Amino acid sequence: MSQEYSGRLQKEAPIGVFDSGMGGLTVVREIMRQLPNEKIIYFGDTARLPYGSKSKATVTRFSRQIVNFLNSFHVKTIVVACNTASAYALEDLEGESDIPMIGVVKPGAKTAAETTKNARVGVIATEATIGSHIYTDYIRELNRDVTIYEKACPLFVPLVEEGLWQDPVTDEIARRYLNELIDIDIDTLILGCTHYPLIRSTLGRIMGERVTLVNPAYETAIELRELLLLKGLLNDEAPRLGENRYQFYVSDGADKFKTFANSIIKYGVLSTKTIDIERY
Ligand code: DGL
Repeated sequence: MSQEYSGRLQKEAPIGVFDSGMGGLTVVREIMRQLPNEKIIYFGDTARLPYGSKSKATVTRFSRQIVNFLNSFHVKTIVVACNTASAYALEDLEGESDIPMIGVVKPGAKTAAETTKNARVGVIATEATIGSHIYTDYIRELNRDVTIYEKACPLFVPLVEEGLWQDPVTDEIARRYLNELIDIDIDTLILGCTHYPLIRSTLGRIMGERVTLVNPAYETAIELRELLLLKGLLNDEAPRLGENRYQFYVSDGADKFKTFANSIIKYGVLSTKTIDIERY
């Protein structure tokens, strides 16, 4: 299926959002809050998760299929609500499509560069995102004086997907991962994976009050609004009474996804459908 889109983008068209699983819902939640008029089509690639341990070629192929799927709804913009896909695939995908796209890494890097007072920032993310050093590169572009400490936390994604958000196992693993970051006196920690805000309370407790946790979702929604405004694509029409503006798709396990999704987006997920993403 071709990714080319030659029609005119419409203000009323939905926004496409995707992630490897339910992590991107932390971004959806923020978009719903900041842009209540917008319609959203969400795709979580639950059959092929995790992305964070896969190669750039594989993550790019998966992401390209998802963009093709989202484009079948004539979305007006795509939010790559996955740090791994933002690090590995966003640049290639932008070059292949007319649809404006936005990732989560640049907004997160910007917030961290503005937040740190002692110029010591930690980044926790998947192995892929950490290996790409994309946060370090963006933060250094903004402020050369910041020292960045990177730490891959590969077990967090399966723990979150299993619903172990408040669990002694998650607590123990988080302590092991974060210990070295506590010792080096960072004052800002980027949650560089969209799954991590779901275990924010555990991470915050371990890091202590002196460390500000940065959730890139907040800044991403702000930048999305700016992008839509700039392109004349912001939906100014309020939702009609009873209208369901949100649709959710996954590549496997629709029922499990729906249950968890409703604890992230309070009862906003009315139905979740499974699709065969390999067809796209
Ligand atoms: N939530 C994704 C991220 O932000 C990916 C998690 C994964 O599939 O490894 O990187």
